[in-house]
Amino acid sequence: MRVLLTGGAGYIGSHTALCLLQAGHDVIVLDNLDNSSPESLRRVQELTGKQAPLIVGDCTDEKTVTRVFEQYPIDAVIHFAGLKAVGESVAKPLKYYQNNLDATMVLCKVMPKYNCNVLVFSSSATVYGTNQEMPLREDFPTGCTNPYGWTKWISERILTDVAAADPTRSFILLRYFNPIGAHESGRIGEDPAGIPNNLMPFICQVASGKLDHLRVFGDDYPTRDGTGERDYIHVMDLAEGHLAALEYAIKRSGVEIFNLGTGTPYSVLDIVHTFEQANDLKIPYEITPRRPGDIAVCYADATRAKELLHWEAKRDLNAMCRDAWNWQKQNPRGYNG
Ligand code: NAD
Ligand code: UD1
Repeated sequence: MRVLLTGGAGYIGSHTALCLLQAGHDVIVLDNLDNSSPESLRRVQELTGKQAPLIVGDCTDEKTVTRVFEQYPIDAVIHFAGLKAVGESVAKPLKYYQNNLDATMVLCKVMPKYNCNVLVFSSSATVYGTNQEMPLREDFPTGCTNPYGWTKWISERILTDVAAADPTRSFILLRYFNPIGAHESGRIGEDPAGIPNNLMPFICQVASGKLDHLRVFGDDYPTRDGTGERDYIHVMDLAEGHLAALEYAIKRSGVEIFNLGTGTPYSVLDIVHTFEQANDLKIPYEITPRRPGDIAVCYADATRAKELLHWEAKRDLNAMCRDAWNWQKQNPRGYNG
């Protein structure tokens, strides 16, 4: 299959590109490099011995997307391209709605002109909003608490409506839980700009001495140790989930939703302690008040993906912590170091 990865130079996209190339597929990347570097794809090539051509361009621009389809016959699209910083989305909602929704709509418009019907979409567990019942199942009610989340929710809606109107379409909505870690080589990984918002990149920068300590946002949640619990998933497991989703989608039509998580929640302190043990170092931390907008617990019911996609996460928390640090250690300044 020849697969177009929008946003394929980014964190999850580059790991997925590697998996697809290793599985014998051809990969084309369309990325505006807003939050990534072409170096990620150069390293994917170094690891696989295969090239994924990069088209530097914007997925919200219909002419650009059309040009890509004119240039390459494409069997399927994995749509990673999107802005993802929750805080920024609250400050600049229009930027998020415009980028994330236009990109989804432009793809929906251009793809059928080239008989390309299969699309796998990067959604997020954030669409489950403040659901209290765990584990989260795909048929639970949805709703969001910030503009970023709503762009995922509305994209899911758009894709569902477009597929309902055209029975030839096959769309898969993947709701990712918390991807962390890196390829085991340490050559590709997560390269956040500025001070990281998310837990694992923050811990990695504390470990490297770039930041002096971790702030644990609240120890008064109704959880085992009082800190927030999440479903962390190794980015390589997540990448493999995309391969399974593609194989499923090409044989069918309609819309399907899958959680991609492990089904096991870990607390902030579980992560800190496992990271310390796996890598034999100390992570100084202090307990601070809760971060506004955070929920206590969030984890997946991962059975649907197991039953229908024949996929489940294989790597444990130890591997996630080891691989995250291996990447950080080798690339203290990310791709541009
Ligand atoms: P990332 O920022 O590393 O990758 C996204 C890529 O999309 C970047 O390379 C960026 O340059 C590109 N991009 C953004 N807007 C574009 C546009 N208009 N045209 C072309 N390229 C564009 O993020 P990631 O962590 O790899 O996430 C990939 C997708 O998964 C995103 O849609 C994100 O919202 C979603 N997601 C991520 C997480 C997570 O924790 N990382 C969780 C749930 C969902
Ligand atoms: C965040 C986003 C969510 C997005 C997800 C994946 C918010 C409010 N939510 O989720 O929309 O889908 O990332 O990109 O930003 N923590 C600390 N100290 C830190 C950082 C985090 O204690 O410096 C805690 C958090 O309170 C939480 C856990 O670590 O309990 C995980 O946080 P994070 O990695 O930011 O992911 P989410 O909050 O799950």
